[in-house]
Amino acid sequence: MKQPFYITTPIYYPSAKLHIGHAYCTTLADTIARFKRLAGYDVFFLTGSDEHGQKIQRIAESQGVTPLEYVDGIVAMFKELWKRLEISNDDFLRTSEERHHLTCQEFFRRIRDKGDIYKGEYVGLYCTPCESYWTEHQLDENGNCPDCHRPVEKVSEEAYFFKMSKYADRVLEYIKSNPEFIQPTSRRNEMIAFIEQGLEDLCISRTTFNWGIPVPDDPKHVIYVWFDALINYITALGFLNHDEKFEKFWPADIHLVGKEIVRFHSIIWPCILLAMDLPLPKQIYGHGWLVIEGDKMSKSKGNVVDPMLLIDEFGADAIRYFLLREINLGQDGNFSRDALISRINSDLANDLGNLLHRTLNMINKFQKGIVEEFSGVNRDVDQSLESDKLETIRKYRAEMESMKLSDAMKTIWSFVSRSNKYIDETAPWKLAKNPDQKSELAATLYNLVESLRVISIMISPAMPLTSRKIWKQLGLDSTKNFDEVQLDDIENLRIEFGHRIEKPEQLFPRIEVEKS
Ligand code: ME8
Ligand code: MG
Repeated sequence: MKQPFYITTPIYYPSAKLHIGHAYCTTLADTIARFKRLAGYDVFFLTGSDEHGQKIQRIAESQGVTPLEYVDGIVAMFKELWKRLEISNDDFLRTSEERHHLTCQEFFRRIRDKGDIYKGEYVGLYCTPCESYWTEHQLDENGNCPDCHRPVEKVSEEAYFFKMSKYADRVLEYIKSNPEFIQPTSRRNEMIAFIEQGLEDLCISRTTFNWGIPVPDDPKHVIYVWFDALINYITALGFLNHDEKFEKFWPADIHLVGKEIVRFHSIIWPCILLAMDLPLPKQIYGHGWLVIEGDKMSKSKGNVVDPMLLIDEFGADAIRYFLLREINLGQDGNFSRDALISRINSDLANDLGNLLHRTLNMINKFQKGIVEEFSGVNRDVDQSLESDKLETIRKYRAEMESMKLSDAMKTIWSFVSRSNKYIDETAPWKLAKNPDQKSELAATLYNLVESLRVISIMISPAMPLTSRKIWKQLGLDSTKNFDEVQLDDIENLRIEFGHRIEKPEQLFPRIEVEKS
């Protein structure tokens, strides 16, 4: 039986269109999901939308539509973006769906029945944009939200509380005894410090608005959005219907989230699960933030980058490659148009594009499109290429398995360069002039096609469209359907003598940069 693997992204707020930061997180998760499928895992990859809360209700009111009408419009754009970005999610969960309302209410009911949810009086400070409650001493130096630095509102109301304090010790113990649980380590240390200050019970209901999931048997309250949202990871597995998906995929292997919401995932979520007697997720991975030309993205600065426009202009794979290559997972990274164009021109159009074109063109020109047979060729260059190839595959696998996605891209691209260098070292155009070197020529072209075959499998999690195009141009569809290719095929498949290649087509046009 295949080993299960469950990975999630945050469910994003439909308070506006998604930007390049959201596309970054979803691309990372998609690349990991695709790699795991390639490696033979049974993968469940979930994303979705976090639709409730006061902020959404206010936006809808200001536009004169119902909250559901408003989110329907935005969520359609989420789905369109993921389609255009080649995201291979297995499900898309909307918190407004009935399956989620019922699951969330079941959680509330069970936890209340066992005495871990109680009614009390809430007096506090609320940041609507962040949907977060703060205490006086947590505010920034101007008395604003410590996260977004916008004003908080004083609220006082009857509310339900969740006894987080009861679970603090157990969560702390879990974090300490499972070093892999919170990654990277810097985030883990922050969380330990946070819990060691002591956890207060969490207010988990509101009465001042109604766009949310009603509290069971007390519908003037709606459930706090974070309590609601986190449960999405379990709703989607069919928990309520005792679906086999739940048995198979829970606990999650990775909740991939931005660093600002690691706290919700590594503290509140485990407390909820402990109260439900459910196992805790194996890992919360906090990725860094994308800044734009060094600056935080914000509507007021007008520097919000729309991934849809970038896809229109450069294609999904170029954007995916850039995000994976340019930013080390866990660290903040910079997005700039110049850097994107320079990666496209150098790594994609030049290095990868040329390797494919030179190889296919030479096979057409010198061997009429056939990968010809050869024997008795044993040059040092061939052996060095072969050992570099094996080392590349080994490193690539290790880096992908440990989520060093940027390193994995570097590893592939140094093999792309290595293969281009092999062309220069063997100079096939010279070999073609000498009939005595027919075998050397055939060996050179064979090895190049093999390099490209290996490269196309290795890039497939990151660049699903390009890898498929290379596979097709190499004529490999007749050897194996690309959708059925597995990671082990890197080593197990071999191109046969007499194989015919297909028509070469350009992968990435060079982007001309206007000189200002
Ligand atoms: O927090 N750089 O939703 P959200 C990188 N609904 N990633 C970024 C980013 C940036 N500049 N901006 C956003 C929520 N992200 C909740 C989640 S989960 C149960 C509920 C990504 O729409 C990053 O992954 O504010 C971040 O954690 C997420 O979008 C927040 O999306
Ligand atoms: Mg946010």
